[in-house]
Amino acid sequence: MASRALLVLLASLAFSFLLSGSVEAQGLSVGFYSKTCPSAEAIVFDEMSKIIKLAPSLAGPLLRMHFHDCFVRGCDASVLLNSTKGNVAEKDARPNLSLRGYGVIDRVKSKLEKACPGVVSCADILALVARDVVVLSKGPFWPVWTGRRDGFVSIANETKQLPPPTSNITTLISMFAAKGLSVKDLVVLSGGHTIGISHCSSFNDRLYNFTGKANLADIDPTLEKHYLAKLRTICKPNDAVTFVEMDPGSFRTFDTGYYKQVSKRRGVFHSDEALLEHPLTKAYILKHAAAPESEFFKDFGDSMISMGNIGVLTGSAGEIRKKCSVIN
Ligand SMILES: *[C@@H]1O[C@H](CO)[C@@H](O)[C@H](O)[C@H]1NC(C)=O
Ligand SMILES: *[C@@H]1O[C@H](CO)[C@@H](O)[C@H](O)[C@H]1NC(C)=O
Ligand SMILES: *[C@@H]1O[C@H](CO)[C@@H](O)[C@H](O)[C@H]1NC(C)=O
Ligand SMILES: *[C@@H]1O[C@H](CO)[C@@H](O)[C@H](O)[C@H]1NC(C)=O
Ligand SMILES: *[C@@H]1O[C@H](CO)[C@@H](O)[C@H](O)[C@H]1NC(C)=O
Repeated sequence: MASRALLVLLASLAFSFLLSGSVEAQGLSVGFYSKTCPSAEAIVFDEMSKIIKLAPSLAGPLLRMHFHDCFVRGCDASVLLNSTKGNVAEKDARPNLSLRGYGVIDRVKSKLEKACPGVVSCADILALVARDVVVLSKGPFWPVWTGRRDGFVSIANETKQLPPPTSNITTLISMFAAKGLSVKDLVVLSGGHTIGISHCSSFNDRLYNFTGKANLADIDPTLEKHYLAKLRTICKPNDAVTFVEMDPGSFRTFDTGYYKQVSKRRGVFHSDEALLEHPLTKAYILKHAAAPESEFFKDFGDSMISMGNIGVLTGSAGEIRKKCSVIN
């Protein structure tokens, strides 16, 4: 009897593993709050609609925030925790420069706390907000898997796990692989650069100091030369304040504009240009620079679901924070 039960159990485990990949196995589901806080997703969308209408430039940073959260310690809202006496949190590490909108998350959280106290995690809010800012920028909708719980720890130096904008293709692929993401996820998620801005400091080396010689001829030869000249008129050497649109002309619309830019060697980051150095990522860019949006949109949702599954805390692990910037 016992061994038969064990066999059935093993078989069903193997089966559900095959069926669901890792998402369901980790305890996330679509509509996790449908009984405990039925209006949760509507509350988030309603709040985000108002916010993005007033401040459309927050869409890029808020999409990025979910990415920063998931790549460091899993999608556990560690990115939202404040530093404390004796601990410098992720928030205060260098890669935080591209993040804004912590106040937005607090505002959404307080609406949710009013409706259903102690139910919706900050980690899930980040995942829902990321989806909603894409939708509100005319991009795709995808079903967000929810049920994440919030972690207790945030350590500044762990942001080293985020691929820097200076990364080459080898580094990008291995840093994504370290999080269980594929080469396709890399090129698809990079398409998120279709919205938002970049500070000159993230790519100034390509304009003025590519090999450390720091003279006007020390440029990144892979950057298209007219675009380089244009970027130099905007970004001065050592410029720490100015920024540029990553997808000029449509930086508030989620579309395939990023691939059009990169295909012309006009991606601002070295890590954008690097995507032309691998056959798979290059083929994807060239195809989607010209293709209708539908396939990229579908891929983007799929890759966001995979990213949203990195290292999640579920069940009784972690907690549901009352305030996103501090543990309970
Ligand atoms: C976290 O830090 C921010 C910025 O310093 C501050 O405004 C906020 O009140 C802090 N959160 C809490 C719960 O103290
Ligand atoms: C980013 O980190 C720096 C310290 O490295 C800190 O001074 C700054 O306030 C942080 N910025 C944000 C937006 O949290
Ligand atoms: C990162 O920070 C943690 C805790 O603050 C510390 O124990 C660890 O040594 C640091 N690691 C590195 C590589 O700096
Ligand atoms: C890519 O970057 C890493 C880290 O900076 C470096 O160690 C490696 O040699 C580089 N690879 C290539 C092919 O340039
Ligand atoms: C140029 O790059 C080198 C090495 O990457 C760095 O040490 C130096 O400070 C940079 N110089 C300027 C003027 O940015």
